[in-house]
Amino acid sequence: MSIVFLSPTGKVGGAEAALHEMLAGLREQHPSWSLRLIVASDGPLVARVEALGVPVDILPFPDALARVGDWSVGEGVWARTVFGARSLGAGPAALRYLRQLRRRLHALTPSVIHTNGLKMHLLGAWARPRGAGLVWHFHDYAGRRAIARTLLRRSVHKCDAIVANSRSVAEDAQRVCGTRVKTHSVWNAVDLDRFSPSGPRLDLDALAGLPPAGDDVLRVGLVATFARWKGHETFLNALGLLPTSLRVRGYVVGGPIYETSGGQVALRDLRSCAEALGLGARVGFTGFVEDASAAMRALDVVVHASTDPEPFGLVIAEAMACGKAVVASGAGGAIELTESGTNALTHDPGDARALAHRIETLAADAGLRHRLGSAGRATAEQCFTRARMALELTPIYQELAHAH
Ligand code: GLC
Repeated sequence: MSIVFLSPTGKVGGAEAALHEMLAGLREQHPSWSLRLIVASDGPLVARVEALGVPVDILPFPDALARVGDWSVGEGVWARTVFGARSLGAGPAALRYLRQLRRRLHALTPSVIHTNGLKMHLLGAWARPRGAGLVWHFHDYAGRRAIARTLLRRSVHKCDAIVANSRSVAEDAQRVCGTRVKTHSVWNAVDLDRFSPSGPRLDLDALAGLPPAGDDVLRVGLVATFARWKGHETFLNALGLLPTSLRVRGYVVGGPIYETSGGQVALRDLRSCAEALGLGARVGFTGFVEDASAAMRALDVVVHASTDPEPFGLVIAEAMACGKAVVASGAGGAIELTESGTNALTHDPGDARALAHRIETLAADAGLRHRLGSAGRATAEQCFTRARMALELTPIYQELAHAH
């Protein structure tokens, strides 16, 4: 079996972290399979995948193509106009890239091509050599993105199977792509050694430039990329609603990572929002952290506050694996991972009051925090192993390799 994976970026967001774990799992389960990654920009993913013994080719997108928005393209007329204008400019660059990719894939003669991101789904569809099966791996809701929806529909006849990161995303994929192509829901895996209750802890106060918070202070952090829908404002509003007597400090952990602008919050806007809410030293902004597990271990409570349904919610799975009490926004794939009151608490997306209430409940009850954390770790050990993910993918690849 020979599989080539295509990633539109070498930066490590959720979809790329999931790709890394998937490759690690396949490597462990099938040491004789030939795996290779083609990535369209350099970044930390490259060294991490190479460290697994999987060769990586960097085939950079031309600038014009790199700048075209991805899943972030929304429904608005303005968003579509900007996207349209950029895409027109990117057309010739895309064709050039397609030719390069086609040549590379022909030389590699894979049995299966597995794509991880909208641009690679489309490029993979049009560059695949005869004889190679094509798997689209959906990490987001195509149905919520007008342009993605249309483009995928036009190319779906070239795709052989869809993998979705949750049942919720799988249902959406079927609404967009129809049922001719088989859609499989396969949860992501988490590195359970790295995301574990013991290990190094970051000094979040120092990173945020704040004085040490003190041992009696509950540390509550939103760990997320800066995508607008990750709910930074909901989190800040929730902190603002907490009684001032409560010994709590909030942390916004993360920064912007993807190149495609639009759809991201700016740090200065979040700082002004915190200021307007009078949060002062009640909240710190750590910026991007390389080791999310060390940030999570430094927290008592990990908050997930997405205002849109979360396709899967890798952060939720990772925080559970770290044995942390999690408050998650209960919609989309996130509700498949959580059982409120057992391995996490949930609140409705965007409901700052409910989020504040959950934080208060956890601040008052160390026993509950502990129980949720232990149950979260047990869920992770049962559901988020690399082996489980690799074993679920194996028959999908085998069927395609056989058919081709
Ligand atoms: C995307 C989704 C997120 C998911 C990740 C990995 O980033 O938005 O929910 O956890 O992919 O599948």
